[in-house]
Amino acid sequence: MAHRLLSSANRFSARFAFFFTVSLSCTYLCYSILFCRGTVMTNQAYEGKRCPPSKNAGGKKLLGRLDHCASLGVRAAAQESAAAQRGASELREQTRAPLPSAGHSADARMRNMSFAQKYGNKKLPNALIVGVKKGGTRAVLEFIRIHPDVRALGTEPHFFDRNYDRGLDWYRALMPRTLDSQITLEKTPSYFVTREAPRRIAGMSHETKLIVVVRNPVTRAISDYTQTLSKKPDIPTFEELAFKNRSLGVVDTSWNAIRIGMYILHLENWLQYFRPSQMHFVSGERLITDPAGEMGRVQDFLGLKRIITDKHFYFNRTKGFPCLKKPESSSQPRCLGKSKGRTHVQIEQEVIEQLQEFYRPFNVKFYETVGQDFKWD
Ligand SMILES: *[C@@H]1O[C@H](CO)[C@@H](O)[C@H](O)[C@H]1NC(C)=O
Ligand SMILES: *[C@@H]1O[C@H](CO)[C@@H](O)[C@H](O)[C@H]1NC(C)=O
Ligand SMILES: *[C@@H]1O[C@H](CO)[C@@H](O)[C@H](O)[C@H]1NC(C)=O
Repeated sequence: MAHRLLSSANRFSARFAFFFTVSLSCTYLCYSILFCRGTVMTNQAYEGKRCPPSKNAGGKKLLGRLDHCASLGVRAAAQESAAAQRGASELREQTRAPLPSAGHSADARMRNMSFAQKYGNKKLPNALIVGVKKGGTRAVLEFIRIHPDVRALGTEPHFFDRNYDRGLDWYRALMPRTLDSQITLEKTPSYFVTREAPRRIAGMSHETKLIVVVRNPVTRAISDYTQTLSKKPDIPTFEELAFKNRSLGVVDTSWNAIRIGMYILHLENWLQYFRPSQMHFVSGERLITDPAGEMGRVQDFLGLKRIITDKHFYFNRTKGFPCLKKPESSSQPRCLGKSKGRTHVQIEQEVIEQLQEFYRPFNVKFYETVGQDFKWD
């Protein structure tokens, strides 16, 4: 009896050991298969490129902002693919709820999108957001990149101003992978006021589509100053910088914060290289009051189906800015970044009026040239 009990116990433990081994091997096998499929691509991408020598100061600054070692291309690609994955899951949620009929095709596009991340090609951009600083360029980029047919670089490459010496191959390597049907986009707001930028961009392609986000130049200047002040609290007051002689109302046009807002002067430089139909002007003001309307026109301009609509936005009254809707599961809404929409420094009404007066003739000429009244006066 005791003997039989013992042997059945033995049989049991032998069987147990057998099953245990088999299931362990199965788990290991499955895990290996999954692991290989999921990560080998990414690893190859990482192994391929390492810390290229930085060639110039502008590039160093750009690299320094990102990381001390990893190559900009690799970092950007990694950020991009992470961002695209976030974007993909967001869009899936968004298109599911408000656009039930488009659900199927959106799903198909999503598959195409992740396909693009792995197997698409890096292309030079078809479209650029070229300006202006403090106009709302980040918002336009964040809004347009939820479109499945747009892939955008999240960082500012500053290629046509600071990094031009690095060459087009360097520039192309920064871009996200895209399918032939997708638009590649980047934004660098300083291009608009860079003398050489239009010629250089036309040199890349005469067909490049250009987006300029403009805003009342006085508000823009104050916003620009506010940003500088937050980094360098010791700079002179806005009034001191804005005027050569305040009592005479002589504005200092050599101050960047003032000069950037003289849009017509910069625009004339662009129009020597590009047809007006290749440039699209977004109103920074309307982008806040009617983001869907402005984004509708941007999509038309880029030849895209209008997929981004008012269903994608909600207005945050506390912040005073529109935000992108997020799926329930994620914690933070995607409004403009933390630093965006900061309270401007208080500027005397009289100074504001003097500057409005200064800008008026430039604005009028700008409206005429662009064929749009931005109602800044
Ligand atoms: C996905 O890509 C294939 C081929 O690249 C294309 O034929 C198809 O139309 C795309 N689908 C969508 C929904 O974009
Ligand atoms: C501004 O102009 C007035 C009148 O010409 C002159 O008296 C004053 O010294 C000037 N101020 C500065 C800072 O140049
Ligand atoms: C609105 O913005 C405020 C201030 O930035 C933030 O605390 C709040 O969570 C936002 N609300 C929503 C619904 O996004």
